[in-house]
Order: sequence, then C-alpha cells, then structure tokens
Amino acid sequence: MMPIRIHHFNTVTSTNDVALDMARVGAPEGSIVLARSQSAGRGRQGRAWLDEPGACVLMSAIVRPALPQERVYEISFVASAAVAGILESRFGLEPALKWPNDVLVHGRKIGGILIEAQSTGAVVIGIGLNVNQRHFPPQIKDTATSVAIETGSTYDTVAVGECAAQVLMEQYRDYLKRGFEEILSHWRKYMWGVGREASVETDGRNIRGTILGVDSSGALLVREPLGKTHAVYSADAVRLLSM
Ligand code: BTN
Repeated sequence: MMPIRIHHFNTVTSTNDVALDMARVGAPEGSIVLARSQSAGRGRQGRAWLDEPGACVLMSAIVRPALPQERVYEISFVASAAVAGILESRFGLEPALKWPNDVLVHGRKIGGILIEAQSTGAVVIGIGLNVNQRHFPPQIKDTATSVAIETGSTYDTVAVGECAAQVLMEQYRDYLKRGFEEILSHWRKYMWGVGREASVETDGRNIRGTILGVDSSGALLVREPLGKTHAVYSADAVRLLSM
C-alpha cells in the first residue's frame, strides 16, 4: 500500500494552492490536503468551484509520476475513475463520467477534478465532491447534486475525504503498475453519453455527431453523420443534443 499523509485545514484559498506550495518544498508523493472550505476554489477553464463549508470533500493529492507534460492528463482519468468507484461502492450510486472528467449522478454534477502540474515534476490532483449539500447557489442549482440529495442521508465529510484519499492513491498505484489502458478500461465502464448525439465545441469549432467512446489515448471519439470520426483532445463544452 502506498503510504499517504493527510494534512487537515479549516479554510484555505484552494487546496491545490496549498498542495502546490507543499510540492515546491519537496512534499513526497502521497501527501494529501483536505480542507473544510475554500475562499478561492477553482475549477477547469478558469471557472470558480463553489463550496458550502464542511459539506463537501475538498482535496488535493501530490503525486510525482515522472510523466512527460503531454501525458499528465492521464492522471485526471485515474482520479475520475477513483471518484466514480467510491460513489458506486461506498454510496451505492450510479455515477457517470462525462469526458474528460466531470463526475455526474442522474445527469447532474456531483464532483470535479482539476489537475495542475509543476515544473518540479509534481502533479497535484484536486478533487471536489459534493457530499452533504441540500441546496446550491443559483449559478449551479439546476446542474449540481450531492451524495446527500442522491441517497437521502448525510455523512461525515472528513471520513469520506480520508476514504477518497486512500482509494485515489490505490488507483494511482494501479496506474503506475498496470498502465493507462487498465485505467481507461475501468473509466469506460462509467462513460456518459456513449451512442448519444452531441455537440462538441473544440478549438473554436463545433462538431455534431455520435459519441463513440474514448480511444487508447483518452481522446473523445465523435462520429459525424456522414461518417467522419474525430478524435477530440480538448473541448470547451460537450452537450447532448436531446435528453
Ligand atoms: C471542475 O470540475 O471544473 C474541477 C473542479 C475541481 C475542484 C477541486 S476542490 C479541491 C481542489 N481545489 C480547487 O481549488 N479545485 C479543486
């Protein structure tokens, strides 16, 4: 088992900031930051990540995978597969992973992943998981959900965070041992939208077609009606065209 060391905080700007600072001064792989709340939580693409103090898991883990920059994204699949696994095995939910790494339950976002790499070679895996929220701010109230809303029960968020840290590091250890293909095959079991018609905004253009899955590098495969299949490596938005 990979040793982990959990550092608990009350309020921080962002657990990713704290972990990046710790990594800069040499914190080892397996160092975990857990906080009750964030004053400047951030999501992907410059978005804010909103939390309710004490009601969610706000976690950042430091890993040092010795990967070239262009493969660091693989770690986000490790993290989202780990979160889906926890939601399924610990809470009995049916999670879905929306490419590249939004975690959904019943079509609503329950968790998100933000990976940040450092020139030191460290990679910080930031995970936000909505646990006990019953209400959300207006900006996300129509699109967010929580474990409490989905299960009808509330949970000890510190215990959930500690469990998430363990499961994440086990999944990461499997990735180091068995490789990305193994993680992808786990990830694919949860993939959202396969076989559905979607609109994908990528590099300033819009592709409309059927979501086929992900290829062996984790790129999203979308087939246009006339048969051309695109491998999408990054997208601003992926939307289903019908419910
Ligand atoms: C996203 O879905 O856009 C990613 C959200 C990631 C949020 C988590 S909460 C813990 C860590 N600290 C942050 O500031 N962000 C990540």
